[in-house]
Amino acid sequence: MQRGAQKILITSQKGGVGKSTLSANLAAYFRQVLGRRTGLVDLDRQATSSKWFRGAEEACVADALYELELGASQGINALNASRLVRKAAEVNDLVVTDLTWNDLLPKEFFYDFHLLIVPCSLSSIEVDSTMDFLERFAHVLKSKTRTPPKLVIAPSRIREIDAYELMLSRVFNIEFFLAPPVNYSSDAQEYFGNTFIFNSTDTDTRQNFLDFAQAIGDLLSRIPLQPAIPQRLLSSIQHRDAGTVLDRFMLQRLANRRTDKKDLSGDAEKVSDDRLPPSLSQFVSSRVRT
Ligand SMILES: Nc1ncnc2c1ncn2[C@@H]1O[C@H](COP(=O)(O)OP(=O)(O)OP(=O)(O)O)[C@@H](O)[C@H]1O
Ligand SMILES: [Mg+2]
Repeated sequence: MQRGAQKILITSQKGGVGKSTLSANLAAYFRQVLGRRTGLVDLDRQATSSKWFRGAEEACVADALYELELGASQGINALNASRLVRKAAEVNDLVVTDLTWNDLLPKEFFYDFHLLIVPCSLSSIEVDSTMDFLERFAHVLKSKTRTPPKLVIAPSRIREIDAYELMLSRVFNIEFFLAPPVNYSSDAQEYFGNTFIFNSTDTDTRQNFLDFAQAIGDLLSRIPLQPAIPQRLLSSIQHRDAGTVLDRFMLQRLANRRTDKKDLSGDAEKVSDDRLPPSLSQFVSSRVRT
């Protein structure tokens, strides 16, 4: 792994789940709100995140945006994808990459990143297909010999939170962080190419995105660029601190896993409200939009 830049990959094999929306807005959040040198790498032919970013980022400097070359006949492949990410990482502290997963890419591509964010709605179909997708890469994500990216599942385009328990109640064989949900915003279309969600005049919409982005920032701040101790030990140290929403989700998940040990290989039982710690219950109810 390269020194210097922290690298986030936002991907899924599913279309329309919010990859480009999260990529453009997260990259802009790190640049404009946190003032970090951040590059956006758009590995999607549709170039949605770059169009959004270019239109809304007033001072879109040359080092901020990296796109596939137009007319490249072979499309996205391991060489041009890695080259663009490397180029962005040479001159930025943080790189956000938007990619619709393509099986032409080798699974090892994941090792280029510190954080792997997979957006997913709360519908059973989407949760199932996300898990199928991740299961295919389980051996990479659980590697003990190389450093895999930390996996974050990001509930996106959430209209109501009722189904959030579906996500909390599932038992997966891959360790992951569950991000605060990004709610459905009817303004998203209007903001495309004009402004970013964290600039919304609607307080709920703005705060909702900021909660998500801050949680990702917190997680990043606890990922060393070059771990000096084995990943296995690192995880236990990181999860001991219960300071953030992401931590609380993680602790809850570990607690569920202990309770539901028998179910590890299959679907988990439902987690009822009274099994959520008060802080998490409050967090979940505060996100309910009636
Ligand atoms: N939080 C949100 N609220 C409302 N609409 C959203 C939200 N996030 C994404 N959308 C809408 O959902 C659609 C798909 O979003 P987006 O382009 O970000 O997904 P994608 O995963 O990048 O899609 P593709 O696979 O086509 O690249 C767009 O119309 C977008 O405006
Ligand atoms: Mg897209």
